[in-house]
Amino acid sequence: MKFFREHSYKVILLLLGVFFTGGSVSYTDAKDTCVECHKDIKFMDKNGVLFEYYSNWINSIHEIEGVTCTDCHGGDPTKSDKENAHKNDFSSLTVTDRFSSQKITERCGKCHKAVLKNFTESKHYKALVKKGTAPNCSTCHGSMNADVYYTSVISRSCKNCHNEYTKNIPDIVGEADKILHRINVAHLYKRWVLIEYHFTEPTKVEEILALYINVAESWHTFDFEELDQKSQVLLRKIRTLVRRGPMAKK
Ligand code: HEC
Ligand code: HEC
Ligand code: HEC
Ligand code: HEC
Ligand code: HEC
Repeated sequence: MKFFREHSYKVILLLLGVFFTGGSVSYTDAKDTCVECHKDIKFMDKNGVLFEYYSNWINSIHEIEGVTCTDCHGGDPTKSDKENAHKNDFSSLTVTDRFSSQKITERCGKCHKAVLKNFTESKHYKALVKKGTAPNCSTCHGSMNADVYYTSVISRSCKNCHNEYTKNIPDIVGEADKILHRINVAHLYKRWVLIEYHFTEPTKVEEILALYINVAESWHTFDFEELDQKSQVLLRKIRTLVRRGPMAKK
């Protein structure tokens, strides 16, 4: 008792400390102030464009995987007022010219390391670093829902720089169309292969998935000679599987 009498204030402080730290930890864990504020439906009327970014993110592959606004934009997601939340390495990632943001490449590449590695080997990356004149991740994937754009949209963006006037390999657009088409078809078949062979031939499924990922990732080198070969092999392998599948026999 003597101990407690002498040290009671310390014990109480200690208990209070545990209580408050415990409380604040769960507060920051549970809440992401970026999302809390940006999801406010009043933005729908007041700032439609702002709200659109939130609605693109919600239910996207990134949201499902727990990638939040801060992962790409920086900022402090524990501060509930805008001024302080929009600090700490905060970046709007605004691209007046969608093709020219090197920052975007760095931010996406934090997580997509294999893609970034391939991309940094390409002439596009060199042009991006030197002059800002090449496509970046968002040119093709948008920002948040990371959809791969339709072939037509992508080749239209290629044509901005690769055309008769610039004389910068105009033929490349047709090449891109061809390869993208193969990747897209493989992308569609891939799901079907997964369902069809998941239990019966898991090693086949793994092989196809690995090959698909390899092609999708090495697309970012823009080495079209190699991609032409690789994408043909991928599609041939997938098609062979699809043809001999039980569904095809019916
Ligand atoms: C209390 C509300 C609030 C919080 C918290 C908040 N924002 Fe914002 N944010 C806004 C508003 C309002 C705008 C619209 C532009 C303006 O008024 O400055 C905005 C704009 C933005 C923009 C567009 C670029 C710009 O500067 O206009 C981005 C990106 C953004 N916020 C990301 C974030 C991130 C990331 C967080 C968390 C770290 C966050 N916001 C936290 C209210 C908030
Ligand atoms: C996967 C990365 C990523 C995530 C997650 C992400 N953003 Fe973005 N955001 C970007 C990129 C890249 C851009 C710029 C390209 C564009 O406008 O499409 C951008 C642009 C924006 C803009 C427009 C900026 C301007 O001034 O034009 C706003 C607003 C915005 N984001 C808000 C948010 C909010 C709010 C969240 C969370 C709910 C969020 N973002 C989550 C990558 C991301
Ligand atoms: C904090 C980590 C993180 C950041 C930053 C990030 N991503 Fe992702 N991204 C993921 C995860 C996790 C997945 C889901 C698993 C996977 O496919 O690798 C994913 C999936 C994707 C996919 C595949 C979508 C699909 O349907 O299969 C694309 C494309 C993508 N991200 C593009 C981007 C782009 C572009 C940026 C920058 C604007 C970005 N990511 C930033 C973690 C991140
Ligand atoms: C010129 C267009 C273009 C650019 C620039 C681009 N991508 Fe891609 N990306 C594609 C295409 C096409 C695919 C493959 C098609 C598909 O998955 O449907 C793809 C696939 C992906 C995938 C999915 C790979 C998988 O495993 O399925 C991720 C993740 C990705 N890109 C991230 C990025 C990141 C990060 C950057 C910037 C460093 C980037 N991309 C730049 C067009 C592009
Ligand atoms: C903003 C301009 C710009 C856009 C958009 C653009 N490119 Fe490029 N591209 C360049 C530049 C600059 C070079 C480098 C030329 C050089 O250094 O010889 C290049 C080079 C290339 C190369 C040659 C790579 C090599 O290693 O020889 C290919 C392939 C290519 N681009 C494909 C594409 C495709 C496909 C698209 C559309 C998805 C596209 N580009 C969109 C500017 C652009």
